[in-house]
Order: sequence, then C-alpha cells, then structure tokens
Amino acid sequence: MIEYRNLRVALLGAGSVGAQVASLLLEHGPELATRAGAGLELVGIAVRDLDAPRTADLPRELFTTDAESLILGADIVIELMGGIEPARTLILQALGSGADVITGNKALLATHGPELFEMAEQVGAQLYYEAAVAGAIPIIRPLRDSLAGDRIKRILGIVNGTTNFILDRMDTAGESLEQALATATDLGYAEKSDPSADIEGFDAAQKTAILASLAFHTTVPLDLVYREGITGVTLAEVEAAKRAGYVVKLLAICERLTDADGVEGVSARVYPALVPRSHPLAAVHGAKNAVFIEAEAAGDLMFYGAGAGGVETASAVLGDLVSAARRHVIGGPGVAESTHANLPILPISHVTTRYQITLSVTDEPGVLASVATLFSEHGVSVEAVTQSVSSSEEGAHPTATLVIGTHEASEAALAATVAALGESAVVSHVTSVLRVEGS
Ligand code: NDP
Ligand code: HSE
Repeated sequence: MIEYRNLRVALLGAGSVGAQVASLLLEHGPELATRAGAGLELVGIAVRDLDAPRTADLPRELFTTDAESLILGADIVIELMGGIEPARTLILQALGSGADVITGNKALLATHGPELFEMAEQVGAQLYYEAAVAGAIPIIRPLRDSLAGDRIKRILGIVNGTTNFILDRMDTAGESLEQALATATDLGYAEKSDPSADIEGFDAAQKTAILASLAFHTTVPLDLVYREGITGVTLAEVEAAKRAGYVVKLLAICERLTDADGVEGVSARVYPALVPRSHPLAAVHGAKNAVFIEAEAAGDLMFYGAGAGGVETASAVLGDLVSAARRHVIGGPGVAESTHANLPILPISHVTTRYQITLSVTDEPGVLASVATLFSEHGVSVEAVTQSVSSSEEGAHPTATLVIGTHEASEAALAATVAALGESAVVSHVTSVLRVEGS
C-alpha cells in the first residue's frame, strides 16, 4: 500500500455547503488521497454555534468556534462561511502562512479579490474558487486553464438559479412575478427575509465581476458592473416575448468591445433580456444555471448544471481540494491570477445591442410614420414592426399596440428614442423596453 504524505485541511463553515464538503471528504478520503497523491486529513471545522443542527452527521470533536487557531498549521484552508468578515481576514491569514485557500465566497471575491490574489502571489500560495460562480458547474478552471490559449469574445450566463426559476415559472406556468417569487421562497430558492440579492441582480453582478475579470485578464470592480434585476419584468412582457419567439432571462454578460471611438474595453452587465427560443440558453429551465462562451478559436461552448445546492457545490470545492493537494505534492509557487490586459471597463452607454420596444398608440393615419421618424431622427434602425389593434369604446379613438424590433443601436441612442417616444402626442405610453441578446 502506498504511503501518502498527509495534508492538513481546515474547514471554515459547516452550513449548506460546508457540511457536505466535510461529509464527502470523510466518506471518500482514501479515494481522494489516491487521486491527489496525498492524504487529506480534516483537522477541524470552525462554526459560530457548536450546538446548531447540521445537515450531515459529523464527528463532534472536529468542531470549534476558534477559526483563527484552526487555520494555524493547515496546508489547505476551505472557507465556506460566506460574508466579508471574518472570512476576508481569515483567508488573508491563511494565505499569509503559506496555506492554499479554497473559497466559494463570490461576495468576497467580487469586492476584495485583488487584495486576496495579491497576498497569494506574494507568498506563492494559490487561491481556488470554482464554487464561487455557478455552483457545481466547472467554469473557473475552463476559463483559467482550458481556454487560456484562446481569446474570449463574449460570455452570456444564467448564473442565478432563483431568478431563472421565477422567470421560467412566469413563462411556463403563467404565474405573475409575485406568485413565482412566492413559489421560489416556498421551495427555499429565494431567501424569505430578503430576496433582493437574487431578484435585484446583486448575486449575478458579483459572479459577472468574477467571470469578466478572469475572461479578459482585467480587474473588473463590482461597482462597474451595470445591474438591473427582474423586479420590473411583467407577465405581459413574458407572454409577449413568447408570442414573438423569445424567452426572458436574467443574463450576466461579459463582453470585449471596441466602442465608437475605437477604444477596446470590457463591458460587464446584468439585466433581463429577450433570448431567442432557438438559443441554447432558452432551454435552461427551473433553477439551473448555464454559461455560454463565445471564443475566437473554440467557437461557442456551453456549460450547464446546478448553480447551487449543498452537495452539488461541494463537488466543485472538492475538485479544488484535489487540485490544491496535487500542487502541494508537486511543489513550486501557485499560478498568479493574470490581469495583464488591464482593459478599461466601459460604461453601459458604450454598449450596442438590439431592442424590442412595445408602444400603445392611437390607431389613425400617420401614426406609424411619426413613430418611424422618431427612430430615424435618433439613428436607430427599425428591423421589424408588428401591430395589433385593440378594440375601442364607442366614440373613443381606437388604439393599437406596436412592437418594434431594432437593429443594433447604442444605449445612448435608444434612451433618447424612448424619451422622445414618451413625449410624442401619438404615443399613449411606452409599455416595455427590453434588450435582445444571443442572436
Ligand atoms: P451557510 O450560511 O449555510 O453556512 C455558513 C457556515 O459558516 C455556518 O456553518 C456558520 O456557522 C459558519 N459561520 C458563519 N460565520 C461564522 C463566523 N463568524 N465564525 C465561524 N463560523 C461562521 O452558507 P452556505 O453553505 O450556503 O454558503 C457558504 C459559501 O458558499 C458562501 O460564500 C456562499 O456564497 C457560497 N455558495 C453557496 C452555495 C449554496 O448553494 N449554498 C452555492 C455556491 C456558493 P453556524 O452553522 O454555527 O451558524
Ligand atoms: N442564490 C443563488 C442562486 C445561489 O439563486 O443562484 C448561489 O449563488
């Protein structure tokens, strides 16, 4: 029997993910040791409350509330506490002592990533974070390693399961946003006390910052990620999208752009968008996640699976653990996160995309021409128009709904067009403005 060198593994957190990591590590330890080429000894688990119920049956003697002492002398520290502090300080301490660190903490990486990566680089340690974006789906390692020889053009991601579940219920079951959110809360996807991290797009924005930084070798600060959540999406919009051959998805978009002035930069943005039903992302249902990558040489790639869940996310963490152990066995410094491109982060006004605008107008001669003139005056080219006439009350002007699809236009031009439509005498109201992505 092969005698392996033993690596000391400290686990911070035994909640949804941490408890499953501990359980799988204890259960499959010998097999993981064979894969890693080193024994993986779980030396302790730091928690807040020693008496809190756990989702896995774990030896009580492993538990401690003293996280700082636990990380001393560990070869590998797994941080699954969440939040900024004390996670940030503990990770810095662990890296500072030369330990490799594994984390699933997207909130921390999106806000303090550069500080953590710098510390890892200084001491030659490695920070792993496969679980931080899209749970079980391997996406960090493909971007960092498998696609390191390629150039990424664009990433379109469904990286928040709760909002995908809600939009999918609206699309497939005809539920209103409020009804679908209640269903998501009952099923434990959305947080009862405060679902805003999901439905306002904050969680997706954190993941977008991480993906864009990695894909474009550029630090993308969270506050430069443009963000709109799904709270303004109506059932009427989802149903109209369906009739027009689209589905509404909350997308995380990371894109390499050259703007009108020839400046190359990165756009990182999150918003609900119309996706053609023929696009692979349209087939992502329920709380599942998917990341669609457009690369210069590789072409289109799609990664699909569970974006959350204790045991599913534990798979990504344990993959990182085996990688960290192999690195210890081989020796040498960790590979620093590359930010060599250092591209500017372009504001949303530099983005061009297609739009679908729904208007309620008076149905009389000349209206369509007036509306078309407003688009052309602002340099926005119309691609398609459909009109449906609403029945009108006797004596009142008949009204019509116009759905106008545009060719690619800049956000600035589109915003000016929408403002002009809002002021036009022939437009009763602008019912909806949605971007079209993935076509
Ligand atoms: P939980 O809230 O379920 O668990 C957090 C754990 O950390 C608990 O065991 C808690 O202890 C412990 N903890 C929190 N604060 C402290 C502290 N100050 N000192 C010691 N222990 C502390 O979180 P999750 O397992 O859901 O998530 C962990 C991380 O993984 C987060 O960063 C999250 O974003 C990320 N993640 C989670 C996913 C998921 O599906 N849940 C998916 C992908 C990433 P106690 O139990 O005693 O309260
Ligand atoms: N709240 C997240 C989601 C889970 O709904 O996808 C993990 O990030």
